[in-house]
Amino acid sequence: MGIVFKEEQKLFRLTAGQSEYVIGLADDRYVGHVYFGRRIEDDGCGYLMRTGEMPYVPSINKRETGAFMDTFPFEYPVQGRGDYRETCLVVRTQEGFRGCELVYKEHRILEGKPALLGLPATFCTEQGGGQTLELVCEDKALSLKAILRYSVFEDSEAVVRSVELVNEGTKPLYLEKVFSACLHMDCGQRDVLTLNGAWARERHMERRALGYGRQQVSSLRGESSHQEHPFIAVLDKNADQDQGQVYAMHFIYSGNFAAQAERSQFDSLRMTMGIHPEGFTWFLAPGESFTAPEVVLVYSQEGLGGMTRTFHDLYRNHLIRSPYLHEKRPVLINNWEATYFDFNGDKLVHIAREAKKRGIEMLVMDDGWFGCRNTDDNSLGDWTVNEKKLQGTLKNLVDRVREEGLQFGIWFEPEMVSPDSRLYREHPDWAIAVPGRDPVQIRAQYVLDLSRPEVQDYVYEAVAAVLRSADISYVKWDMNRQLTDVGSCYLAQERQGELLHRYVLGVYALQERLVTEFPRLLLENCSGGGARFDPGMLYYSPQIWCSDDTDAVERLAIQEGTALLYPLSTIGAHVSDCPNHITGRVTPFATRGHVALAGTFGYELDITHIPETDRMEIEGQVRLYHQLQPLVREGDYYRIASFGENHRYDCWAVVSKDKGEALMTYVQVLAEPNYHSRRLLMKGLDADAWYRMEISGPEYAGRENNCPAAADTNQGNQQEDVGRWKDSGQVYSGRLLMYGGILVETLYGDYASRLFRFVRV
Ligand code: GLA
Repeated sequence: MGIVFKEEQKLFRLTAGQSEYVIGLADDRYVGHVYFGRRIEDDGCGYLMRTGEMPYVPSINKRETGAFMDTFPFEYPVQGRGDYRETCLVVRTQEGFRGCELVYKEHRILEGKPALLGLPATFCTEQGGGQTLELVCEDKALSLKAILRYSVFEDSEAVVRSVELVNEGTKPLYLEKVFSACLHMDCGQRDVLTLNGAWARERHMERRALGYGRQQVSSLRGESSHQEHPFIAVLDKNADQDQGQVYAMHFIYSGNFAAQAERSQFDSLRMTMGIHPEGFTWFLAPGESFTAPEVVLVYSQEGLGGMTRTFHDLYRNHLIRSPYLHEKRPVLINNWEATYFDFNGDKLVHIAREAKKRGIEMLVMDDGWFGCRNTDDNSLGDWTVNEKKLQGTLKNLVDRVREEGLQFGIWFEPEMVSPDSRLYREHPDWAIAVPGRDPVQIRAQYVLDLSRPEVQDYVYEAVAAVLRSADISYVKWDMNRQLTDVGSCYLAQERQGELLHRYVLGVYALQERLVTEFPRLLLENCSGGGARFDPGMLYYSPQIWCSDDTDAVERLAIQEGTALLYPLSTIGAHVSDCPNHITGRVTPFATRGHVALAGTFGYELDITHIPETDRMEIEGQVRLYHQLQPLVREGDYYRIASFGENHRYDCWAVVSKDKGEALMTYVQVLAEPNYHSRRLLMKGLDADAWYRMEISGPEYAGRENNCPAAADTNQGNQQEDVGRWKDSGQVYSGRLLMYGGILVETLYGDYASRLFRFVRV
């Protein structure tokens, strides 16, 4: 790891693990991208900027500087001077002129990494130090300074980037667009990969050919969104989980974004990422500065799997701050799908009592405990406990649940206000709205104007007062609508274009206060399921509710897409009742458990009402969770097969860092009659080690020993099997498991699943 400046060649070389990022100067003025890829360590690589060919640099080819502007691989391209590709910065002056030219002024190489004020960002640790390059550029005509920041860490392949803009003049500037990062490469035939979806279908992977022009994913919803994710990757045509080049960008931000890959006239590719410019204008008064959020750049030559593991390690080692990051989280039961709004104190205590018997460790009281909220159209903002419903104070209820032996967690939706609430009647001007127009309602609610300090204070105190009043261990912080009618009674006219970003900064400020006052609080973010599952929120909470869709089969795709970037320990996953509330699908209880084990694990069902056979399985599932949690939380993730691709089965694995233990989860989504056993190739093991294989899950039914067995063979013993490992009696070499694979018999029925554990002997 390290950053060096090569004076003679005018090159900045940043090395991060096996990757290298090289920046060059053209004409001693223009900051250009030389290279990002596998480490080359050769100071002679500057020619890759192609300044030795037409149109040359402006000092040589004075009559055609426009062609230079439109082809040079700018590290931070700006608008208005002939670069017609997507640019990163658009500046308007007070007089209404646009256009900017940033030229290199000086640089600094710093030990460590400065924090980004008010923004979530990666940081150095004792085990993983880092260095930062600050490239200072300026536009003298605008008196604008731009500090381009790049950091690398000792223990990561990633490069992280952000930019700070400073108005050093005497007149205000209007920043109409500020992206955070740009990356160039020669294009050729490549694919682009994004994560797309909808409510209850978040983060499905989509891969398509990269054509000419601009291919963008974005959000204009005020949050990172269910629909498109602040991530984009460009990959070789033949790249798969294990091999091929991948270039990825991921945004540490929770609001509007744009992520783009643009193939231009000379088959060069420009990737860009930043805050979406639509609806954004930042008024930069003289002396003020603006910092754009951070982008993570990852290069992998080991396909998507290599990219995934770089992101997982970066987020675990350099982004998530919670003390729970490396701790086992309590197994919780949430009452949302169990009761919805129809609960009272006794009902919750009853659930807690039954849950305790099965080994569950925490009860989470979801929506409906405050104001007079028994439906979703009122009381948001009125965070006063409904003592009639809880049959006592909140403290009474928490104490009752604690007496049952469970910790207590609670749901809030702090950023919102219901039109039907005391808060809205008293402060209608606290909602985001355009004067003279009733705001659009989504789920019968409005969004609070978090750009206002007094609104932030009200929200914080309302939440904190509840948390101070009782022994509460966990908060689910929800956010259930997108932003519309983006106007603030508080902001001055020239600052209205700042509201969307100021709103996100307000969310960050609130959560920062919360984790500061309550450092041992386990915080789980949520947004109508997973609409704000992004790296920004991970800086505050070690886990995020992944989707309102708890159906085990739907979760395969949702969790596959989520785990492409996020460690399994961050993925909120619960076992729920069947028929599933969203899809109506019925899956085996064991399978629901196996899928939820690839996440935070918990329950979301009425344990007092589910079938006794299911209830009996919980104890075994909880036992499995305790056994597997450290491995799932800390291990390396490998994708082995994807139901989205093969339409039959899904398979993934987690391998401990020392390769001593591994878990492979196999879900046979659709049973196939009269078929061979399926061959699964393990990944990530030590080829030279030997492993004992253990199996957990329902017994094989069907063609054991090639002998057609009765369909219901062994069905009776399933509950006892859950949570127990059966030694296969076999020891396999790592080589055999990875290159030869194991054979899995056809399981009986759709949606059947099985766990395989490999322990080094
Ligand atoms: C959102 C969340 C759910 C639940 C409800 C409560 O939809 O994603 O888990 O908390 O709100 O209203």
